[in-house]
Amino acid sequence: MNKTNILDIIKNMTIEEKAGQLTQLPSMYFDIDSSMLTGTACNFDIEKKWLVGSILGKLDAKSMRAIQTKAIEKSRFNIPIMFMTDIIHGYKTIYPVPLALSCSFDKELINKCARLSAIEGSAAGYQVTFSPMVDLVRDARWGRVMESFGEDKRLQSDFGSEMVKGYMGDGLDKPDSLAACVKHFAGYGAACGGRDYNTADISEYSLQNDYFPSFKACVDAGAKFVMAAFESLNGTPATANKWLLDDILRKQMNFDGVVISDWGAVNELICHGVAQNELEAGKKALESGIQIEMSTTSILQNATLFIEQNNELEKLLDSAVEKILLLKLELGLFDDPYRNISEKREKECLYTQEMKEFARKSACDSAVLLENNGVLPLKPNSNITLAGPYAKSCNLLGPWSIDGEIENVISVYEGLEKSELNINNVYQTDFEKITDSEIDNILESARKSEFTVLVLGERESWSGEAGSRSDISLPKAQIKLLKTLKNHDIKIIVVLFNGRPLDLRKVKKHADAILEMWFSGTQTGNAVADLLTGKANPSGKLTMSFPYNVGQIPVYYNCLSTGRPSELLTNEPRYKSHYLDIPNEPLYYFGYGLSYTSFDTNVKEFNISEDITITVDVKNTGEFDGAHVIQIYSKKSVSCVSRPKKELASYEKVFLKSGETKTVKLTVKNDIAKIWTQNDGFMFDSGEYELFLDDKKYKIFIDNQGKFKE
Ligand code: BGC
Repeated sequence: MNKTNILDIIKNMTIEEKAGQLTQLPSMYFDIDSSMLTGTACNFDIEKKWLVGSILGKLDAKSMRAIQTKAIEKSRFNIPIMFMTDIIHGYKTIYPVPLALSCSFDKELINKCARLSAIEGSAAGYQVTFSPMVDLVRDARWGRVMESFGEDKRLQSDFGSEMVKGYMGDGLDKPDSLAACVKHFAGYGAACGGRDYNTADISEYSLQNDYFPSFKACVDAGAKFVMAAFESLNGTPATANKWLLDDILRKQMNFDGVVISDWGAVNELICHGVAQNELEAGKKALESGIQIEMSTTSILQNATLFIEQNNELEKLLDSAVEKILLLKLELGLFDDPYRNISEKREKECLYTQEMKEFARKSACDSAVLLENNGVLPLKPNSNITLAGPYAKSCNLLGPWSIDGEIENVISVYEGLEKSELNINNVYQTDFEKITDSEIDNILESARKSEFTVLVLGERESWSGEAGSRSDISLPKAQIKLLKTLKNHDIKIIVVLFNGRPLDLRKVKKHADAILEMWFSGTQTGNAVADLLTGKANPSGKLTMSFPYNVGQIPVYYNCLSTGRPSELLTNEPRYKSHYLDIPNEPLYYFGYGLSYTSFDTNVKEFNISEDITITVDVKNTGEFDGAHVIQIYSKKSVSCVSRPKKELASYEKVFLKSGETKTVKLTVKNDIAKIWTQNDGFMFDSGEYELFLDDKKYKIFIDNQGKFKE
């Protein structure tokens, strides 16, 4: 099978057969046991289900073979089906949620998570994953921030493209690879008020400079699909937004793959108020650039009719089918529609020792130590009381771990029990209701223990899709427990599980240490034990600011300056950009995170040529081994447009034994100067820049060709 054969097939396909290729249905329609829907169900003529080009959702090797055999039999041209799903932070072995992974600041780690996920997922019969999600996020109320890599476009771009590469492995023709579908294009993370699916209004300046670059990076890294977002972007739903899907994605970003709608989003054009009925919705989506309709059938059911009205539309159908079939060819499906799937392979590939160990390491490397007055790490044989909603709970996989199995999860209690700590008592509590007598019991045990580990947080269901919240502090019951213990001078270590930055003012006030674990997957309990006992040293840095309180949202480090910056107008009591009741600064800022050790950085060389190379000696000056993240920021004070107060320009993570020194090279590229403006489009913003590394500052120049100058 080759491209010419594919073009021949398309010539002979009926309109309905072609529209079938553009249709994707959930696997529940194909007799898969315990299928789950991640969206609303759709109505369609069930007889037509064998026309579909792709299936999403629950699968295993056995069902994949059965469905594929039947699909090929039923297709006049023996066209195989493509199987897709949401493998977001692991398939069976679950790694930390993407927001947590991003805090590792470790591209290799993220690449490997994706690689191992692809090995598992492809063995279960999938060829495509709806990942990575590279939506820039600035609003912690939005439940899906846990799926993102945070508020910085460089990290979004780097980690998104590493995931794309990790999924692909040695190439899409290899049966252990997955094609990546980058999502949600675009602006989904800027949902008004943090309410999921809500409208986003983003200037083109910000779209081009902040929101689009990560998509471009993933496209360049080889993403084969782009998923259009649910929301209305600047007044036009992304699913019907020709400017977005054609002018920007195809023409500006040179995307050559397949554009897929989000779940049910084609029919949602009716609720958005831009289509009267399903016919119009399907037609509009196709005209705007949608090439696979997920979970609804407006194109399939109406294509013949709308092509009768305007036969030009058949060209769009043909071009979509061509892209879809060529992708199936690239994935090797025409040669081996099963892609070497067998129950034996599936069994051997799932949840291997290597995966378990890597899940434990990635959970350790993603954790962020927010506070520590010296209580951590705990010495061997310390006596502890363990209490809170996550004491024995195994609900630690986090949202979007649909195939993860709770039986495989190591709870905090299980992890700590195996460690060198002595657990005096363990108390499993609820999230929102903790009775006075429960608190009394915990207090009594805490008094007899050296330390109390409180495992607090949000329920898993409080973040993820449709998991928006207006109050992002911990429930009152958890705070009351914390406060009561503090009032009795108990030494408290708070370990947090949550899918978003929280308002932690009260926790900060009462805890001796705060360890942010996010939702860290299958090996959580072991990782918590490693981190609390110092077997692992926390090295995560925040990639999303923790607001002072919810009223400060959106709060992000790389904001533009105002005309009345409060930090400069220190003598002006009122007429400046500030709040009357709270500070402008977040509680915990981007790039922040503590360690059990300390580091010293010493710049040895600052070399300017095509790129800037900064050679740094980093020394671990403390008593514990640990990793340090060197962060370089850039700033342009004067430009033709307002530029961010600072932006991450380069970073490297380095592991050092206690007392060890290593030399690290960091590269700053001229992309720090590449911006888009309304007047000039993309250009190099020439002039003077400042680079910051800790307290050191360097001035450099860039010309309008993007060349660095002394
Ligand atoms: C989500 C997508 C996901 C899709 C398929 C939708 O509800 O927004 O991110 O890929 O479902 O499960």
